Amino acid sequence: MANMLVAGNWKCNKLWNEAELFVDELSQILAQGDGQGQFCEVMVAPPSPYLAAFAQQFDGPFFVGAQHCSHQSMGAHTGDFTAEMLASCGVDFVILGHSERRADHSETDEMVAAQIRAALDAGLRTILCCGESLELRKLDEHFDWVKRQITAATTGLTPDEMAHVDVAYEPIWAIGTGVTASSAQAQEMHAFIRAVLAELHGDSVASDTRILYGGSCKPSNAAELFACQDVDGGLIGGAALDPESFAAIVAAARGVLSPS
Ligand code: 13P
Repeated sequence: MANMLVAGNWKCNKLWNEAELFVDELSQILAQGDGQGQFCEVMVAPPSPYLAAFAQQFDGPFFVGAQHCSHQSMGAHTGDFTAEMLASCGVDFVILGHSERRADHSETDEMVAAQIRAALDAGLRTILCCGESLELRKLDEHFDWVKRQITAATTGLTPDEMAHVDVAYEPIWAIGTGVTASSAQAQEMHAFIRAVLAELHGDSVASDTRILYGGSCKPSNAAELFACQDVDGGLIGGAALDPESFAAIVAAARGVLSPS
């Protein structure tokens, strides 16, 4: 298995001066823990207006990610931006298919597939989000739902391209609710996702693809979630807004914090 990844998705939060402060504080805390435990990649995805500055001004110990890119090429699409634009200003990652974008901006599986295609063509690394609503879980349709999302987004990608795709399982009922999936629920779905990846792309791609967990992941539950065999890191929302709690989650991924 590749290195763990802990990625912070700020969503629509923080003013610029708060973002600068965060970078200083996070860099200092991460520097203190440097070299401890296993290596873990760290990524921060601030709001889009800050991306070029993040990528160009800060030499922080983390990758810089966008929360979205367009499924369309450059042209007359007011307010939108392309994967190539992100790459051209030094952004490393892009989060795609987040349930909030699917809900707020009516993003379809087809649009997410086109975004992944564009992001990979531009040389970006991608985090593909999937996850079901509580209603679907109650109907026992969550596995079919997640399989459909992954199949729609990754069919046709080559093994080399899949090496630039991380998957994030984010059950909608756990996002921002304080209700976390139990480690058993997370492991069950992550193992299923790996089986879907094996069906679509072969065993080697399946075992090399990182599958992150997202949904009310915080310092108090991160170590237990990350101890699951098929959980390779986290996509963190609320707890990524505070440098100390985000760094504590990174420490959990490094194995420095053990499950309580
Ligand atoms: P929370 O950690 O706030 O539940 O958000 C998770 C998420 O949506 C990350 O993309």
